[in-house]
Amino acid sequence: MNQEKVIVIDFGGQYNQLVARRVRECNVYCEIYSYKTDIAKIKEMNPKGIILTGGPNSCYEADSPTCSRELFELGIPVLGLCYGAQLMMHVLGGKVEKAPVREYGKTEVFVDKTSPLFSDVNETTICWMSHFDYISKAAPDFRIIAHTADCPVAAAENQERNLYAIQFHPEVLHTQEGTKMLYNFVRNVCGCSGTWKMDAFVENTIKEIRDKVGSGKVLLALSGGVDSSVAAALLSKAIGKQLTCVFVDHGLLRKNEGDEVEAVFGSNGQFDLNFIRVNAQERFYSKLAGVTEPERKRKIIGEEFIRVFEEEAKKIGAVDFLAQGTIYPDVVESGLGGESAVIKSHHNVGGLPDYVDFKEIIEPLRDLFKDEVRKSGLELGIPEKLVFRQPFPGPGLGIRIIGEVTAEKVRIVQDADAIYREEIAKAGLDHSIGQYFAALTNMRSVGVMGDERTYDYAVALRAVNTVDFMTAESAEIPYPVLQTVMSRIINEVRGVNRVFYDLTSKPPGTIEFE
Ligand code: XMP
Repeated sequence: MNQEKVIVIDFGGQYNQLVARRVRECNVYCEIYSYKTDIAKIKEMNPKGIILTGGPNSCYEADSPTCSRELFELGIPVLGLCYGAQLMMHVLGGKVEKAPVREYGKTEVFVDKTSPLFSDVNETTICWMSHFDYISKAAPDFRIIAHTADCPVAAAENQERNLYAIQFHPEVLHTQEGTKMLYNFVRNVCGCSGTWKMDAFVENTIKEIRDKVGSGKVLLALSGGVDSSVAAALLSKAIGKQLTCVFVDHGLLRKNEGDEVEAVFGSNGQFDLNFIRVNAQERFYSKLAGVTEPERKRKIIGEEFIRVFEEEAKKIGAVDFLAQGTIYPDVVESGLGGESAVIKSHHNVGGLPDYVDFKEIIEPLRDLFKDEVRKSGLELGIPEKLVFRQPFPGPGLGIRIIGEVTAEKVRIVQDADAIYREEIAKAGLDHSIGQYFAALTNMRSVGVMGDERTYDYAVALRAVNTVDFMTAESAEIPYPVLQTVMSRIINEVRGVNRVFYDLTSKPPGTIEFE
């Protein structure tokens, strides 16, 4: 690839992918590399700019991640963020030490607008700070270009050498003008033309898949959700019938979904690929019988998935690659994306058993956020209806049924969810809400219906708005819509006598219930 590229050097911070994503939003191609990457390799890539990320360490400690002085002598513009900023100052002769006051959260920052980094930025601007250490003295030949009440060097620059250091996090949306600052760096300082688009991702990925796969056979775990569908389309464009999609109906799908998926991807559908549907409902229910612990449920469903694939692979013959529609939030929340702690083991990622009967895994969407996956889906010509389909987790209704999963509970949650989706669509809200679904709580309570006492389950309705699924707010659904949904569920779904609406944002809640 001889396109313009900015590289992000990863020092273990939690927002690293966000940095890359914001750069891509400036229409500049971006890749992330470990801080251990050889300087010769960096030179060879010939990036237009380098961004050093944040990280949890103290740069003055002996075994902390570091970089060589040479990185700043390549003549390539460098922007250090948080730990990256401190490291730049430390390596170039400034002073970093424990801050007398820890800054955390939204902070007022006073910037010098004459710096190219802050062109068009307000003189006083709100930024997101999160640091224990601070730069007490900028490196020689650096000019201080921002400060806060507690932080004398909130940003510093050496304009001649195109070196910039900022203590706060421009990549986080809480930094009100952060995207502008990153834009200023990649477009104005690095001189990137901003011609990169999502279709370039699609094109490059298709090429990469072809190179990697050669004449090999690929098996894809197709769930019919947005992620695996986009992965299927990418792979079918790249390698056509070398791809076999196995669609496992684990009995934890939404109502009628199995048939809908088959209609789109099966032999009468629009894609050129081999499609196999495996009806494995009973197998999953029996494995899940009596299991209530969420992580165990996830692991069981994930492992059973892989077992089914292995069996299918054996039937097909030699299969070289297993492809999956894993996207970036799955990776980071499973603790595989650097230093972040495990929040949930997403199936497809953390749930992968040690022994897998394939040569290699291909995850073409691993670096993308959900909205980027959708954009690539449109680039690939997948129908809008499918691209904007509600996200659906791999473990399916298994993690929307709190506690033990049974066929009866699956029926309840499927029916309740179908009613909810129908009413949301009728109210014209289906495109404005990020994700919405019904879940089955493990709570039963007393109610009255007709003249009879009932002792039935409570359904929880969830609806959230989110940009990237890492954070989310509960959506404001008009009360009359909620009332209609409640009354239909109570009347039409046997076994339910109460309906709740979940107001929790993420964090502290997650979007799914388990
Ligand atoms: P959480 O519950 O982690 O959900 O806030 C964030 C987004 O990810 C989806 N999700 C999953 N997707 N496999 C998937 O493919 C999984 O195991 C999984 N768990 C959650 C969830 O629906 C939401 O869109």
